[in-house]
Amino acid sequence: MARHLVTSALPYINGIKHLGNMVGSMLPADVYSRYLRQRGHDVLYICATDEHGTPAELAAKEQGLPVNEFCAQAHEAQKVVYDGFELAFDYFGRSSSTQNVEITQHFARQLNENGFIEERAIHQVYSPADGRFLPDRYVEGICPHCGYDKARGDQCENCTRVLDPTDLIDPRSAISGSTSLEVRETKHLFLLQSKLQGEVEAWVDKVGGEWPQLSSSIARKWLTEGLHDRAITRDLDWGVPVPADTWPGLSADGKVFYVWFDAPIEYIAGTKEWADAAPEGEHRDWKSWWYEADSGDNPVRYTEFMAKDNVPFHTVMFPAIELGVREPWKKVDYVKGFNWLTYYGGKFSTSQKRGVFTDQALDILPADYWRYFLIANAPESDDSSFTWEHFAATVNKDLADTLGNFVNRVLSFSRKRFGDKVPAGGAAGEVEAKLGEEIARLLAEYEAQMEVLQFRKTAAALRALWSAGNSYLEEKAPWLEIKTDQDGAALTLRTAMNLIHLYAVVSEPLIPASAKAMRSAFVLDRDTATWVTTEQARALHTVPAGAAFTVPSVLFAKISDEELETYRARFGGGS
Ligand code: MF3
Ligand code: ZN
Repeated sequence: MARHLVTSALPYINGIKHLGNMVGSMLPADVYSRYLRQRGHDVLYICATDEHGTPAELAAKEQGLPVNEFCAQAHEAQKVVYDGFELAFDYFGRSSSTQNVEITQHFARQLNENGFIEERAIHQVYSPADGRFLPDRYVEGICPHCGYDKARGDQCENCTRVLDPTDLIDPRSAISGSTSLEVRETKHLFLLQSKLQGEVEAWVDKVGGEWPQLSSSIARKWLTEGLHDRAITRDLDWGVPVPADTWPGLSADGKVFYVWFDAPIEYIAGTKEWADAAPEGEHRDWKSWWYEADSGDNPVRYTEFMAKDNVPFHTVMFPAIELGVREPWKKVDYVKGFNWLTYYGGKFSTSQKRGVFTDQALDILPADYWRYFLIANAPESDDSSFTWEHFAATVNKDLADTLGNFVNRVLSFSRKRFGDKVPAGGAAGEVEAKLGEEIARLLAEYEAQMEVLQFRKTAAALRALWSAGNSYLEEKAPWLEIKTDQDGAALTLRTAMNLIHLYAVVSEPLIPASAKAMRSAFVLDRDTATWVTTEQARALHTVPAGAAFTVPSVLFAKISDEELETYRARFGGGS
């Protein structure tokens, strides 16, 4: 039994996430965590909302709420959706927690003491009308290169050139539209990442060899381009305050840390939130998961999940911070990065409301439909595309026909012919022996793919396990067999019921609700086994003759052509 720490990129607070966010972070992290728990490991899966920064401030303003109230509400709204998706976090925290303030400030003080933070004066755009400094992207104006009139201070969307806010012609505030902007001098803290370049490189050399290519190539690219010193504070009201004991001047100016500085630290702080939320009488040792977690006889293996745009922060910048702190904080062992899920080949977009949002998805169909489709089509080696046609075809074929129909057919037929107890039948024969071998082989394949976090291939192995049951049933055809050989038909059905029980166990990481329905079809004296052993897979004898069973209601409904058309019309199909 090993200790596994799992985190998924923290969803930003400003709004409900779309399916693309889900498939590239939280969902695979949940699938992996569930699998590890079932195998008996000690797993801690921590996630949280990422709450600081300008977008949160602006979203709150738009809703006319104080930003802390907005975040509290938005956190709950996201949590409801994640519960609906059955994401089994050990804790779902908030980056605005006091725990995160404390640990972020501690990290900053340590970095400062170790010579990795410097105070520097910079020039920044100030908007008297807004009463604030404007982040680069909140200055808009005419692009000096192409004349586009909605160019942002960091980049022109039209010609893609990188800009400085002072390059813009006729600049204005993107918040108020005010054109009376000034450039003022202001002081900020800079993280001297350049000083840590060598150490980060050495660390990536040591651990990055095992990462998937997507993650390691992004890390290498950033390291080759070189780590530059970066401002880690901002002029905002909402964020982790710069501590007054170390930087009294900046603190008095109301500076807070940049959202990307405190967000990854929330992985640690979220673990402390988990510990602080322990029920009476339960002790949760948060520090053992993070501090000196590599030493001792119970080391932690830490796996992170994220989409590719987040990979640089997790493979280079956060590790640089952890190294610079000069304390033994746990660093990531394995970085699972994902490409993009597209909507009909185009971008899912939160701001343009393009694609399917996670709350809408749950309004339409239960979580398992989405979980299965998304994992089976996870954008691993390349981007993958969501289309309603593909979604409906996958649900209908894999879930409704291959799995659902098998379960229903076997259980209803057996009940009709043999009553509500698992029939005994004769001893297993050659066909069952062959089936057992096949199931054991596919189970090993499933486990191997899950252990290397190849989600598409894991789903393919699971689908093959389901198909093997169908082939067996077609071969034995108990509905014919029963006419001449009652015992033979009973054996076939008992074997098929054992397959259903096995499916219940091994499908749980991907489709937990359906797995539960399958599992609870059987009344067993002892159903404590968390995972299926090779011997059990071969023998297919976990459900004994005489055990009572019920027929669950239809596990998966097919998506009709009319429904498909409705979804296409509502969300906009490929155009
Ligand atoms: N909120 C960020 C995003 O949505 C991810 C933050 S991951 C963390 O891209 F590690 F920084 F928290
Ligand atoms: Zn331009």
